[in-house]
Amino acid sequence: MSNMQKTLIALLGVAVIFFSFVAVRVGVKPAATVKASPIPAGEYDAAVWGKVYPLQYESYRRMAEVAPSPTGYGGSVNVQKSDMQPEIFTNFKGMPFSKDYTEDRGHVYAVEDLLHSKRIGPASKGACITCKTPYVEQFYKEAGWGYANKPLGELLERSKHPVTCAQCHDSETMNLRVINPAFIEAQERRGIDLSKATREEMRTYVCAQCHSEYYFEPGSMRVVFPWDKGFKPEEMYTYYAEKPNNFLQDWEHPDSKAPMLKAQHPDYETFANGTHGKAGVSCADCHMPYMRKDGQKYTSHFITSPLKTLDASCSPCHSQGTEWLSERVKTIQDQTFLLQHTAGLNVAKAHEAIRKAGDTPNVNQAELAKARELVRKAQWMWDIVSAENSMGFHNTDQTMTTLGQANELAHQAIESANLAAGINVL
Ligand code: HEC
Ligand code: HEC
Ligand code: HEC
Ligand code: HEC
Repeated sequence: MSNMQKTLIALLGVAVIFFSFVAVRVGVKPAATVKASPIPAGEYDAAVWGKVYPLQYESYRRMAEVAPSPTGYGGSVNVQKSDMQPEIFTNFKGMPFSKDYTEDRGHVYAVEDLLHSKRIGPASKGACITCKTPYVEQFYKEAGWGYANKPLGELLERSKHPVTCAQCHDSETMNLRVINPAFIEAQERRGIDLSKATREEMRTYVCAQCHSEYYFEPGSMRVVFPWDKGFKPEEMYTYYAEKPNNFLQDWEHPDSKAPMLKAQHPDYETFANGTHGKAGVSCADCHMPYMRKDGQKYTSHFITSPLKTLDASCSPCHSQGTEWLSERVKTIQDQTFLLQHTAGLNVAKAHEAIRKAGDTPNVNQAELAKARELVRKAQWMWDIVSAENSMGFHNTDQTMTTLGQANELAHQAIESANLAAGINVL
């Protein structure tokens, strides 16, 4: 055999091996796509997932750490918000938030903190479990929205884990997913098909399924997000004014007798219309920055104040340096707090003025009703900022405008109350 023939045979041999390899690969491909997942669906224990994904789990566990925020707002120490905002006692008088309203902390405490909250009692309903644990997937599968009307104690007993991996991940594909039925329904009503959501959108939606404003439908206790008219404080207020699903109020204020609304952590709605939301930045960009360990890049699952990770959280987009960034956040928060506290105190004064007017003989009932409507709206504008968790950072210009409105409406409510009582204010 000549060298030429030898080379040809060798090449042929290599080709045969190569193509039979390709054929085998193609042949097994369908089987490979249904690869066995090491984590079964319905596994809600983060420690089990942690065996497969140790870096993510290690960072997730850090949510057990408790520390104040460097700016003095937020943080993960569960102090009472009324320590800094005593107006909470007046403005939420007659409802559970005047008894217990703690600062939020890490996800690993979600079930424990609900269990120990003074806001719940034997009469509490299952609806409260919706944003605390992936077991909600099971409860909804078993009973649909029927779970929302079951005794909370019964569901709490079955909720062995707080917010864990299955809340945001499909265990088989590890794709991001949302499981809160209230979020899915609200997005459907807005015409948003979640099955077509981009990866970038999902990096916000996984959070928005819980960090949003809601109310309970009277009777059924179904959780509903008030988004049909939009995310702005005014738009959600108008939505509530139309008495959706016969929902009129969260409670009646015992002093002013005004029909009140309680705002709940509208982090997503506020962020969505802010600079970062409009620029397409996601919650995960700041709250779950990329980290490195032993040369491996991974997403931090230590979800907390981004001020603890400013460089990793902000520097991929900002070149100003961490000192500038932290100074900006601190300034925004200080100014927001000043205006928010003032608005809260003015709303409290309005409740008192209306109470006094209501006790006056021959009070002008039409003017009194107007004062009550004004304090309802003033408090909504204050609360939608106060109940939001970033102290103005997620949407600074909207926050400032909303607080300006809260202050103005509170003054109008006081004027109206005085007018109702026959006191000439001007
Ligand atoms: C551009 C960065 C950025 C984005 C995007 C962002 N946040 Fe924040 N977030 C912050 C900063 C900064 C704070 C203030 C932290 C502090 O006060 O310590 C904060 C505070 C919070 C807090 C309170 C933390 C605490 O210490 O109590 C929550 C909850 C939160 N954000 C949720 C969200 C959610 C949900 C989204 C998406 C809908 C989001 N954030 C998007 C930067 C961001
Ligand atoms: C609150 C939602 C949420 C929870 C809870 C959560 N993750 Fe994630 N996870 C994310 C997001 C957001 C990403 C980024 C995905 C992307 O950009 O495509 C991610 C990415 C990942 C990835 C892909 C690799 C990487 O680091 O980017 C793995 C693996 C992962 N998570 C594992 C876990 C494990 C294990 C747990 C539980 C201990 C968990 N996750 C809990 C939201 C969550
Ligand atoms: C299943 C509902 C749920 C989901 C999903 C969820 N959160 Fe939370 N989050 C909570 C609850 C409840 C708390 C308060 C827990 C407590 O105080 O016990 C909380 C607390 C927080 C805090 C405060 C932590 C601290 O150290 O003070 C931040 C920040 C936060 N969440 C951001 C996010 C982000 C960002 C996402 C998406 C990646 C997300 N959350 C997804 C329910 C959720
Ligand atoms: C994914 C990119 C991205 C990340 C991450 C990000 N930002 Fe931004 N940020 C932007 C964009 C885009 C703007 C709009 C104006 C601009 O281009 O500077 C902006 C604007 C700002 C502004 C100007 C204020 C305003 O409302 O217009 C501040 C302050 C700011 N960012 C702080 C932060 C901080 C603090 C973090 C981290 C916690 C952060 N950003 C993370 C993209 C980002």
